Order: sequence, then C-alpha cells, then structure tokens
Amino acid sequence: MNNFENKKILLIICGGISAYKSLEIIRLLKKRGASVKTILTKSAKEFVTPLSVTSLSQEKVYDDLFSHENEAEMDHISLSRWSDLILVAPTTANTISKLSTGSSDDLASTVILASNKEIFLAPAMNVRMWEHPSTKDNLNKLKNFKYNIIGPDIGDMACGEYGEGKMTEPVEIINHINNYLKNLKNNENLKALVTAGPTHEYIDPVRFISNKSSGKQGYELAKSLKKNGFETTLISGPTNLKPIPGVKQININSADEMFNATLENLPVDVAILSAAVSDYRIKNIEKNKIKKKENMNLNLEKNIDILNHISKHNSLRPKLVIGFAAETNDISKNSKKKLLEKNCDWIIANDVSDNSIGFNSDFNEVSIFYKNMMNEKIPKMKKSLLAEEIVKRVISQLN
Ligand code: PMT
Repeated sequence: MNNFENKKILLIICGGISAYKSLEIIRLLKKRGASVKTILTKSAKEFVTPLSVTSLSQEKVYDDLFSHENEAEMDHISLSRWSDLILVAPTTANTISKLSTGSSDDLASTVILASNKEIFLAPAMNVRMWEHPSTKDNLNKLKNFKYNIIGPDIGDMACGEYGEGKMTEPVEIINHINNYLKNLKNNENLKALVTAGPTHEYIDPVRFISNKSSGKQGYELAKSLKKNGFETTLISGPTNLKPIPGVKQININSADEMFNATLENLPVDVAILSAAVSDYRIKNIEKNKIKKKENMNLNLEKNIDILNHISKHNSLRPKLVIGFAAETNDISKNSKKKLLEKNCDWIIANDVSDNSIGFNSDFNEVSIFYKNMMNEKIPKMKKSLLAEEIVKRVISQLN
C-alpha cells in the first residue's frame, strides 16, 4: 500500500558515487504522490547536477547556507518545518562524522541539526571506510541520537571492492519508509497511557515518603509512543523532566491522584505502568509540621494497586496492560508472580540492586515476562532505545 500520497519529503544528497541512485529515489517518491525538495551538498554536485535533480523533483534545489535569495524565500529552519521527514541518501562517512559531533558548517548539516522530524540515513561508502572504528563509533552515536539507519548492503562497489557499504537500493529505501508511514497511520487510531516517576505520600505539609524514580524510563516510553503515532497520555509523578510536545500530560503527587487520573483517562489500547508508586500512604496526614520528638511512628495504610485494578477491570481494561517490576532479588520468580497476581499481559523487570541501571540512570536492562510464560532479555542500553524496543513489540502485539 502506498503511504506517500501528499507527504513532503526533504531529500539530502551527499557526495558519493551512489548519488546517481538518488535520482531514482526522487522519481519513485514523485510517482507515489510525494512532494520532494532537495538539498545537494557541495560534493554531491560533483556526482549529480542540480539540473537533473530539479527536472525530476520539479522543485528548486537548495545548496547554499548563506544564499540571500533562498533564506528570504525558504530558510534552513523552514525547510525542516516544511518536511514530514528527512531522507539523507547517500549518507557519506563525512556526513556521519559531522552529525555525530553536531557540526553544522553547510546547509545539509544545519537543516538536520535544526530539525525535529524523523531522519532516515542511507549510508554508502567503501567497505574499509564503513568498517573503520571511527565510522562504527560515529554510527553508534547516531543510533543513540535516534537517527533511523537504512542499510548499507553487501555487494560489488564502484571502487572495485566487494563488501558492506553499498547503498540500499532505492526501491528498498522507499519500502522501508513506506512501512514507517504505514505504522504511523495505523497507530494514529490507537491510544496509549503511560505512568511515570515517583509518588509523594505526604506526612505533614513539608515531608513526604517517596523513592528514587526520576521518570526517565516512562517519559522515554511516552516519547516513543507519540513518535510512532499513538495518541498518548502521560500521568507523571513529580519529576524534573520537560513535558513532551504532543503528549497530554497530567501531573499528580500521590498514588491516589495517579489512580484517579489513570481511571479518568481510560479507555486506551495500551497502558504501560512504569511509575514507582508508593505501596503505602500516611493514614492521617498532619495539618501542621510535626515537631521533633524522641521517637516517632508512622501509621501507614495500603495504597490501591493501579496496575492490579485496571488489569482486572471489567469494562475499562486496555487491550494490552504492561507493568514494570523493580526487583533486587529473585527477579524471575517475583516477576512471574506479579504477572499472574496482577493479571497483566507483560511484566518488564529491572534489577534495581544495580545502580548503573533502573532508578535514575540513563540506562536500563530488562527482561520481559509474557503472559504465555515466555520471556525475553533485552541487554543494557539507553532508556530511550529501550523504549523504542518496547514500543516496537507493543505495535506488533496490537497489530
Ligand atoms: O523513573 P526512572 O528513574 O527512569 O526508573 C525507572 C523505574 C526503575 C522506576 C522503572 O523501570 C520501574 O521499574 N518501574 C516500576 C517500579 C515499581 O514500583 O515496581 P513494583 O515492582 O513495586 O510495582 C510493580 C508494578 O505495579 C509497576 O508497574 C507499578 O507501576 C505498579 N504499581 C505498584 C504499586 C501501586 N500501588 N500501583 C501500581 O500500579
């Protein structure tokens, strides 16, 4: 199915021998109903001419960061704003290196740096350049920055060598992006709810019980769901994180408030409860600040378990209910117990005895326990990338 109809694609062509294939990319995009604006880097012009690009795209070609004419008509910020997504094909080792350091010394790199759109890179270079540790390092950085990398393929190269580094064929690049657009369209009809961060259970007006949760994992999940087209609601405990554009956010303090906000925002298709909700609250919160005493006992009562409640809800249960488990020991046994007792579909377990992951870290390492008793380990990675991995699985489950 064609998902390019009326889409606006900004194609950046860098200077490599496979730049000639970019002309075919423009032809295919136009055939599928997309509008294509193009940026040529200085070296790209050694391989393809602006005239051939403009003839195919039926649009003017952009190439100069300091063009008075272009800046007045469409500046580098507007070019990114105009586009639905950016494709860089071919992406050379030099461009990969520039993007990995955030350098912006020409129109192409400036537009990419200034863009908040989805960016697809189709690398192409000699096999030795591709295998060089600096390219590998730079590429890992780009993956962490969440650029989408397509290819390269293995095959005969223009330089006479054989190996990995050949740009993925235009039709496959188009199929890859078409799949992304298809997911986006399908997911636009889906709703997601995420809980994140800690709760504050007040003892008196100035003191509360809480935990080390920063909210990072939950915010990354909400970000990724939104990016993949879900209508997303984030119910957040107190954190220092910035709201995510396009995500409906409800800020709460206590577990009780989180429970009410969650119920008010159902039904949804998927709920991911990653918040570290306090299991207990103070039975009688003191109106005035408690004076120092020799001994003090806190009278606690149980908070409602939000995950348990919504998983067992007759009419409002989301199609997919995902809980987290923060464990310090017997991770597998405890997680399977939570999965069964709380009636959820998946439990994502993290070992919070390890300070390099879990609470407050930028990294996490989890095992997913599924309802059918299968489980899967996902290695240590940035929480942003883990969120992408989880959302990928959510999409395939909902489809
Ligand atoms: O916020 P970060 O710093 O990024 O850290 C991420 C995290 C470690 C907080 C996160 O990955 C995580 O493990 N979240 C769950 C923490 C937790 O409270 O686990 P639990 O095992 O106590 O609870 C199990 C599940 O029940 C969780 O989905 C929890 O949200 C839910 N729960 C718990 C108690 C309660 N009253 N209501 C709930 O819904």
